[in-house]
Amino acid sequence: MAKQKEPTWSEDGLNFRTRKWVRPEDLNANGSLFGGSLLKWIDEEAAIYAIVQLGNHRAVTKHISEITFEASAVQGDLIEIGLKATHFGTTSLTMRAVARNMITRKRILTIDKIVFVSLGDDGKPTPHGYREITYDRDRMPTEHAVTGTIRLP
Ligand SMILES: CC(C)(COP(=O)(O)OP(=O)(O)OC[C@H]1O[C@@H](n2cnc3c(N)ncnc32)[C@H](O)[C@@H]1OP(=O)(O)O)[C@@H](O)C(=O)NCCC(=O)NCCS
Repeated sequence: MAKQKEPTWSEDGLNFRTRKWVRPEDLNANGSLFGGSLLKWIDEEAAIYAIVQLGNHRAVTKHISEITFEASAVQGDLIEIGLKATHFGTTSLTMRAVARNMITRKRILTIDKIVFVSLGDDGKPTPHGYREITYDRDRMPTEHAVTGTIRLP
């Protein structure tokens, strides 16, 4: 099998692919980054990561472990989000997440466990059959189970 490429942006095995710009609508009443906006970005990124790793659009968030906000960000700051799969279960995928402020270079938070579950057409957990991370797009679903779109050759 051909050797897979390691992504350029990484730290402790986490791949930082996503960057976000803190906009006015992402601020709390304190004028700093609203935690809910950051968690939405992380959950979305984790969902896409789970789909790519498990080859299934029907991947849903099951569990998010304790979160402690260590630092914050202000309007105009750039945030990067890193994820890494830490465990492939039978129907689940566990990931670790880190968000950091690219301007202050401070870590904003770490989430040790985000668990996604792969579902079948019946909405129940279904085995995904994978044990290792892919750095390619070889598991990408070729058809959307719900809409029937994204049919690829
Ligand atoms: C996802 C869902 C179908 C799973 O149902 P379930 O009855 O918990 O399924 P199971 O008990 O078979 O567990 C499925 C997997 O999740 C894991 N899991 C279950 N509870 C867990 C928890 N609290 N923490 C971590 N992993 C957990 C199990 O270990 C199992 O993984 P494995 O097959 O790799 O061993 C169901 O809980 C659900 O629909 N939840 C809502 C999901 C959702 O809508 N999320 C979006 C946010 S609203």
